Amino acid sequence: MTASRTATAVAHSNIALSKYWGKLPVEGNYPAVPSLSVTLGAMSTTTTVRFDPSLAEDTLVLNGEALGGATRPTQRASELLERVRRASGVTDFASVHSANDFPTASGLASSASGFAALALAAVTAAGLDWSLDRVADLARRSSASAARSIFGGFVALEDGVATPVAPPSALAMRVLVCVTTEAAKTTSSTDGMRHTQDASPYYAAWLQDAPKAHAQLRAALAQGDWPRLGQIAERSALAMHACAMAAGVVYMTGATLAALAEVRTMRSQGILAYATIDAGPHLKCLVREADAEQARARLAQVAGVIRVLESAPGQGARIVPGL
Ligand code: PMV
Repeated sequence: MTASRTATAVAHSNIALSKYWGKLPVEGNYPAVPSLSVTLGAMSTTTTVRFDPSLAEDTLVLNGEALGGATRPTQRASELLERVRRASGVTDFASVHSANDFPTASGLASSASGFAALALAAVTAAGLDWSLDRVADLARRSSASAARSIFGGFVALEDGVATPVAPPSALAMRVLVCVTTEAAKTTSSTDGMRHTQDASPYYAAWLQDAPKAHAQLRAALAQGDWPRLGQIAERSALAMHACAMAAGVVYMTGATLAALAEVRTMRSQGILAYATIDAGPHLKCLVREADAEQARARLAQVAGVIRVLESAPGQGARIVPGL
């Protein structure tokens, strides 16, 4: 027995520049296509895991609210904890306290930072001495995008393996998150992907196109080619949404489209801003650091945009000492 089976980890959200959408038809939650993201320094989840012999089940407190054992978030956390118990020999149930500093479950990728922080905290609390690659693999089984949040800067996810490909300093860029609602989204990414795979007439085309866009994006990043990186990122997001929309899966709202129009107007005026959108209504604008202030002020004026969060590329997941 170790003295204290508790650990606290912090992990940041990430936004994919080349998107994944769809899963391989095998066990283990493998994405159907590769992706590349930037970790967002300004948006984080902090999670404490404590394995506790007095508990009769795993418990989850999310943003101060105790969720019941039968709820989906608690079950998903418990599945990850069960993998950690099996690997470590720890048999106790765990209490999990998790808090986001941004709106939960509305397409701001809270599952990415959430499962990355949970995986690192749980592995550490259980006393496992795992490499970050192994922690990322554990996180991926719960939420594929979470594997990327284990690392900082620019992170590829290829064949289910997350690899940092460039440090946060590689590009002087900012991500401007246009928050368009505080509400939880209605279609989870898992359900949206499943439905797209089953019903989109364009899914086969997406499977063909996405790996090409990903390779082009990796090359643009390696060359530091900002306009090309932005163009490919915007096209990747629109291709993903076109494929999903053809199956009836619509995440964009009027505010999303109004923000997209503003990004394109800025571009026509010489500001090299680009848009990306995940499985939710918030548009994320990619800009160079020098243009961030101006772009932020303009996006804040768009009808339906509640506020604009700004993030630089950030660090990977880490343990918070002494908590
Ligand atoms: O792995 P999930 O369930 O968080 O799905 C992520 C899907 C997108 O955010 C839309 C794309 C991506 O690559 O992150």
